[in-house]
Amino acid sequence: MSVAVLEPLRAVFTLPNDDPRKTVAVALALCLACSVVVSTTAVTLRPLQERNAALELKREVVRVAGLDDPGVSLSQAFERIEPALVDLDTGELIDGEAAATYSYRDAAQDPAQSTALEQDPAGIRRRPNRMPVYLVREDDALETIVLPVYGQGLWSTMHGLLALAPDGRTAKGLTFYEQRETAGLGSEVASPKWLGQWSGKTVIGPDGAPVIEVVKGSVDPSAPDAGQKVDGLSGATLTSNGVENLMSFWLGEQGYGPFLARLVESHE
Ligand SMILES: Cc1cc2nc3c(=O)[nH]c(=O)nc-3n(C[C@H](O)[C@H](O)[C@H](O)COP(=O)(O)O)c2cc1C
Repeated sequence: MSVAVLEPLRAVFTLPNDDPRKTVAVALALCLACSVVVSTTAVTLRPLQERNAALELKREVVRVAGLDDPGVSLSQAFERIEPALVDLDTGELIDGEAAATYSYRDAAQDPAQSTALEQDPAGIRRRPNRMPVYLVREDDALETIVLPVYGQGLWSTMHGLLALAPDGRTAKGLTFYEQRETAGLGSEVASPKWLGQWSGKTVIGPDGAPVIEVVKGSVDPSAPDAGQKVDGLSGATLTSNGVENLMSFWLGEQGYGPFLARLVESHE
């Protein structure tokens, strides 16, 4: 270290311990050292966190697609899944290669890759122009379509995956793998019990528009439209409304609507 730096340091260290200038200097040095440690740790751990998040997402896709099997490794199970990118405006599938590295979260922050929303029921402000989707085929026949969905709950943006049957209208499963709603209230949105009721529900009507509703209280099973309604979360109506709103956005014209219409047409 140069003499020019050492000299003021030496001057500080020779001050008596009860000198306020020494107290301030030591506090500043401590803050500087801590911030260096924290930022270095954050930078070095970032790739590891990203790898873990990617693995976690794969695990959730496999689970919601019903492909999780204790005897099969995650990578083996994921081999059955075909990731692809969808152009949301046209509904066209773009090549699958790009899907592996695509982040819809990054795209939503980039004005070149996203669109500002005027109608924004999901509370996401900008919609990525492309979204990843995951297709599961059995002997070339489409078996499951997994769609990432996200939107505002009461306290947080909830990120989830909706699995649809090949008719593009019937839910096979739903998961919310990231949310920060209140434990015991809104966070029940991620509980297997609440999510379990989604399987078999009609989420899109015969005219191609979203129909799924999250009702306050319980669904009357004898009601003719019970098949397109799920129970709301008790004591968490605002989180429940968030789920209904994000579904209506992502299953609608601004979301996967055009893609689902094309996909269903091509499989009819
Ligand atoms: C500390 C606290 C945390 C809350 N967390 C949530 C929540 O995560 N999700 C939610 O919808 N409502 C939450 N609420 C309740 C809402 O403020 C609101 O009262 C509720 O959504 C209404 O639902 P209900 O009509 O089913 O009672 C919370 C309330 C309090 C006091």
